[in-house]
Amino acid sequence: MNKDELSYEIKIIHKANEIVLDKKFTKHLVLTDRNLYKEQRAFIDEIVKSYDAFLYVIDAGEESKSLSVLENLLEYAADKIDRYSLIINIGGGVVTDIGGFAASILYRGIKHVNVATSLLAMTDAAIGSKTGIDFCDKKNILGTFYDPYKVFIAIDALETLPKDEYISGFAEVIKHALIHDGELYDLIKNDANIEEILEKSIATKVHFVCEDKNEKGARMALNFGHTFGHVIEASSGFNLAHGTCVAIGMKIALELGKILNITDEETYIRSFDLIHKYYPIEEINYEIKSLKSDKKMMADEINFVFLKNKEALIQKMNERKVVELYNEHIKNKKF
Ligand code: GLY
Repeated sequence: MNKDELSYEIKIIHKANEIVLDKKFTKHLVLTDRNLYKEQRAFIDEIVKSYDAFLYVIDAGEESKSLSVLENLLEYAADKIDRYSLIINIGGGVVTDIGGFAASILYRGIKHVNVATSLLAMTDAAIGSKTGIDFCDKKNILGTFYDPYKVFIAIDALETLPKDEYISGFAEVIKHALIHDGELYDLIKNDANIEEILEKSIATKVHFVCEDKNEKGARMALNFGHTFGHVIEASSGFNLAHGTCVAIGMKIALELGKILNITDEETYIRSFDLIHKYYPIEEINYEIKSLKSDKKMMADEINFVFLKNKEALIQKMNERKVVELYNEHIKNKKF
């Protein structure tokens, strides 16, 4: 795994006792969600017991990425742990996002580790230091870039992951295969072992994070499929799974690229081949009026991620023009 340039280690583990910290902390707080605590209770209890940790359990789902859930968590943490303590986030993207955010602001920043148990967190959310919550119906608009102390990929948790969550997480893996990595593309196409696929997918995420941690340039490639994806996800009231929305967003981005003569035919065909392996052809009928992720954002331009020659191409686009193209050429068609 390419992790040399990251300040933290990413380790695939099978058992709770493989979580080794190499450093002493005064206290430990384990954060997880209710569903996972039901499915993986023995695994979580073992970690709680071995670190004599406090346990804080939040509801599963995107609704937990809210100011009120964060406030309750911070209140609990401020009462129980001090500035030399460690927060251990065990879960998917919701837990790693909110737990990482809490760690980044509590006592002006304490250490945290991410123990990723969903495919989405393993390949994306737990790595790359983005933390945050949703606010004013906008996804991830309160947050920080804050490095975890370590990341553990609890790969056996995939065995109890609900199928729809697995499929949702796979959208980010497919995204990595399309924006950068030909080898990963072949592994997915040939139904390789998930551990092998994950290692490659994580290496791709690490590659972009190392190039541009604060997302000023190259890292924007990781937003492929997310411009439309986030808007569709938010307008569903976060009822549609993130990965499902990203998959739809990738389809739209490919169509737009084709319409604008940016995406070449070979890239277009091979990309849809891979997407359709997990996400069937469907009618794209979402009402979209704006792509701006912040109502107060003044700029009319957005950085849109297309594909060209089998990799990502970031291009400034007029936001209104993109919405117009969507409504004129993509909406109500099947892809
Ligand atoms: N999930 C996209 C990123 O970490 O930049």
